[in-house]
Amino acid sequence: MKIRWVALASVLASCGLLAGAREPNHAPEDGYELWLRYARVADTARLAEYRAAIRELVLTPGEPTMQAARDELVLGLNGLLGRPVPVADAPTRDGTLLVGTPANSPAIAALPLAAALREAGPEGFVIKALPVRGGGHHAIVVAANRNIGVLYGVFHLLRLLQTEEPLAGLDVVSAPRYGLRLLNHWDNLNGTVERGYAGASLWEWASLPDSGHPRYRDYARANASIGINGTVLTNVNANALILTPAYLVKVAALARVFRPYGIKVYLTARFSAPIEIGGLPTADPLDARVRAWWAAKADEIYRAIPDFGGFVVKANSEGQPGPQDYHRSHADGANMLADALAPHGGMVMWRAFVYSSEVPTDRVMQAVDEFEPLDEAFRTNVLIQVKNGPLDFQPREPFHPLFGRMSRTPLLMELQITKEYLGQDSHLVFLAPMWEEVLRADTYARGPGGVGGGSSDGAGRIRGLAGVANVGNDRDWCGSDFNQANWYAFGRLAWDPMLPSAAIAESWVRITFSNDPRVVRPVVAMMLASREAAVNYMTPLGLAHQMARGHHYGPGPWVTGGRADQTSVYFNRADSIGLGFDRTPTGSNAVRQYLPPVRERFASRDSVPEVLLLWFHHVGWRERLRSGRTLWEELLAHYQAGVDTVRWMQRTWDGLDGLVDAGRFRRVQGFLRIQETEARWWRDASVLYWQSFSHLPLPPGYEASAHSLDWYRQLRCPPDPRKPRCDAVTGF
Ligand code: GCU
Repeated sequence: MKIRWVALASVLASCGLLAGAREPNHAPEDGYELWLRYARVADTARLAEYRAAIRELVLTPGEPTMQAARDELVLGLNGLLGRPVPVADAPTRDGTLLVGTPANSPAIAALPLAAALREAGPEGFVIKALPVRGGGHHAIVVAANRNIGVLYGVFHLLRLLQTEEPLAGLDVVSAPRYGLRLLNHWDNLNGTVERGYAGASLWEWASLPDSGHPRYRDYARANASIGINGTVLTNVNANALILTPAYLVKVAALARVFRPYGIKVYLTARFSAPIEIGGLPTADPLDARVRAWWAAKADEIYRAIPDFGGFVVKANSEGQPGPQDYHRSHADGANMLADALAPHGGMVMWRAFVYSSEVPTDRVMQAVDEFEPLDEAFRTNVLIQVKNGPLDFQPREPFHPLFGRMSRTPLLMELQITKEYLGQDSHLVFLAPMWEEVLRADTYARGPGGVGGGSSDGAGRIRGLAGVANVGNDRDWCGSDFNQANWYAFGRLAWDPMLPSAAIAESWVRITFSNDPRVVRPVVAMMLASREAAVNYMTPLGLAHQMARGHHYGPGPWVTGGRADQTSVYFNRADSIGLGFDRTPTGSNAVRQYLPPVRERFASRDSVPEVLLLWFHHVGWRERLRSGRTLWEELLAHYQAGVDTVRWMQRTWDGLDGLVDAGRFRRVQGFLRIQETEARWWRDASVLYWQSFSHLPLPPGYEASAHSLDWYRQLRCPPDPRKPRCDAVTGF
């Protein structure tokens, strides 16, 4: 069941209102096609331009990636132009779409593209409007050095048509900023997905390798269309069985489907696998038997999957086994696996999300403390995979200090596409602005320079982005229409981390909903406002980890008990004096992990960005902030602004009645209704809890809470593995 009963009731109620809505000219939108809908170009002048510019397709298939490019063009052009485009062997007239590499297309080899192709590099592409055959015909050329670049170019061209861009003077050279653009699936072998909110795992292990679901190919198409070039199939909390022969043949079958689309397969390696499936008494990385076991395992994997990408490892974190179990370092563990993979060209992605069994003074400091001393110790085929922030995918965190601290070891930045802490499947939260924030942050490792852009600093060590996938076997892949935008944004940013959120949102809206400015403008505005809205109603002013325990859905600022650094009170430090975690030298001194001048900026109450105030400082309830308002007043204003923004999003969406197909219109309306209810839940539960410390009144006119603090505290969430929500909250 996708929408809870309250939302369903609201959806049904709205049906009457929508009876007269205009259905755009497209099949019912169930979300399956993602951003590859290829609806006919609505602007008639543009359609005529496209039909004149693309009258025949010249492309040599033969090889699987070229065949995939041809299939996509045939499908896409058919849909967009509303008529088939004939395929020819060589350019015969004006309006040729010429596609290929200098190696597989004599016509392309004859064009003056050498400089542009050099710029495009191994994965990039060139798209140009050019005369071909001695100037006789006007053509559009999609060229690349390798077939995969051709496929990326084809998807780019189709996107230009989908967004109704003019083709005249077309001149594009595009190359990805990062070599590694990966999805990380947290999928278990039993079909469940850790932190998955879109159904079960896509991987149907029981029926593989004999039967392959058609979705596997569509998954590969979707990824290739946004430049993703690798997928880690299994959960970081790993199961060693994936490395057994019975599973490796299944993995090989998936790799075969993904290969034409340029997608390499990776697996998570459980560090204790030599014991669990190898029959050894130890997994000590310095033990010769263990090393030999991993080397043989790597040989076996590469026999089955010659282009296997490598291993992702979560070790000595949250109870996972690792080298420290044998008093060895992270480098000892990573290097052992790296040595096993190196002869085959494989990589180890060793995660810096370490969370040891001892409670540290400040949990956010552990990664730098453990990894910085090892900076010179890793093999060249080891990357350290670092979450965007030092805690755990919160609505807002400062950038992870490790980005400025590792000057020799290459890094991967891990982002979470599945919104574990941001309303999961039901809240509309567009994540690109959050990712943009970290990708553009300055570490000052070598003077100013964005973390992700890596113009001049330690961030230049970043080799790729890894996104924790939000994909499951729901018909719409992601659990909601708008969650698809986050998958899309992740891929686009992994290709070009400096792409502005607004541009990503606009292209997604145009492709997914409509090019009509009456739709584009308001929906882009909603998307761009949505992340700050969630920060405001969940954890404003630098608060973090105030979610309910376990499932992380809904507020739980009172959570205490058990391991201290897994509780909300550990992070909020609310007391009668004030609120926030002192991470300056008078507190945990976590600021020391940032380089000057960032360290000083964060450490000072005068210069810390106010959006991170309570992350770094314990602030008195009555202390005045830059606005002139007290902390208490400012907090209240932020919670209310979060609720108000969601209400504005609702009104904005309601204004699209008739401009968006009725199915999606109602689905989104239902989700926004949930979000408004739950934004109030967050605001009221949080404000009442803070008030129990501040003892300050709510200003006159502040929207009254529907219930008492005790009522919010006693809410219990049923342990539903798919949708672990507090159903009781729908009662207000
Ligand atoms: C979070 C998440 C876990 C996950 C972990 C990780 O803590 O809640 O489910 O295993 O991150 O990234 O390893």
